[in-house]
Amino acid sequence: MEAMTSLADDATVVQRILDHIDRGTTDLGTTTWREPVENYLSEARFAAELRLVLRRYPIAFCPSAALPEPGSYLARDAAGVPLLAVRGSHGQVRAFRNACRHRGTQLASGAGCGKAFVCRYHGWTYGLDGSLRHVPHEHGFPGLDMSARGLVPVETTEAQGLVFVTQEKPPLGDAHLDSLPPLIPPGFRLTRSSEGEVPVNWKILAEGFLEGYHIRSTHPETFYPLQFDNLNVVEHFGRNNRIAFPYQAIHKLRAVSHDERSVDGKLTYVYHLFPNVMVATFPARSSWSCSSR
Ligand code: FES
Repeated sequence: MEAMTSLADDATVVQRILDHIDRGTTDLGTTTWREPVENYLSEARFAAELRLVLRRYPIAFCPSAALPEPGSYLARDAAGVPLLAVRGSHGQVRAFRNACRHRGTQLASGAGCGKAFVCRYHGWTYGLDGSLRHVPHEHGFPGLDMSARGLVPVETTEAQGLVFVTQEKPPLGDAHLDSLPPLIPPGFRLTRSSEGEVPVNWKILAEGFLEGYHIRSTHPETFYPLQFDNLNVVEHFGRNNRIAFPYQAIHKLRAVSHDERSVDGKLTYVYHLFPNVMVATFPARSSWSCSSR
C-alpha cells in the first residue's frame, strides 16, 4: 500500500471498496511486520513511549463538545499527567496541570461547569484563565507574587472538533494539526461519556481499531451482519490514518454515478489520530476513544 499524505474523496473510497468486494480482497501493506511481544510488556518501553510519544506531540484530550460553554471543564490524566481543560469566559479552551500551586492538591475531578477553581485543601482560588485570584490569610505568605503562581499551562489547540494538548515542545516544524480533515462537525453535543480500565498495553486497544480482520469472529451478531469481514480501505495523512469500514448497504451505490456517491450510512470512517485517539463516524454521531496505557 502506498503511503499517502492526503485523503481520497468519498467517491474514490467507495470505488476502491466495490473493487475489493468484487475481487474478495482488502488493502494490504507492502511489507509484513512482526511486533515483538516484549514491546507490549516492557515497563521501560512504556515509560519511553509516554515521554517520547504521548507527551511530545499534540494529542487529542477531549472533544470540543465536552466543553460546551464558558466555565465547562474536564479533568483527566493524559500520558500519566493529571490535566484540567476549561473553556474560558471568551470561549477559548486552555489546559493546565491539575495541581494547586500551594501544595499540589488536584483542583478538579471529572467534568462540570463553574466560575472558578477553589482548592479544597486551603482554599486558594484560580480563575478560568488559570490565574491565582485569592489566597486566604495571604499575610502568611510574605513576598508571594500571585501573578507568578497561576496554574501551570499546557499548550492547547482546538481544531476540527477536538481539543489537543502538547505537554512538551513538539519537534520543530511539526504540522500535525494542519493535516487534519474535518472530524467532528460544529454543533455536535456530547451525549455519553465513560471511562474504564482494560488490563492491556495501550497499543493493544488502539490496534483493534485499525483492522477489520476481527469483524466476523469478534462481532458475529453486531457489526458482522451489517459490515464485511476483513475489507478495509486504509489511508495515511501525516502521522495519522483513516480506515474505512464499509456496510453491506454500500452495494446500493453501484447504481449511483461516481460523482453522486455519498458515504452517509454506507461506511464508518475510523480516524486514528497519532498516537492513541480514534474518532469513528456513524450516521448523525461520532464516537471518540482514547487509549492511554
Ligand atoms: S494545597 Fe491548595 S490551597 Fe493548599
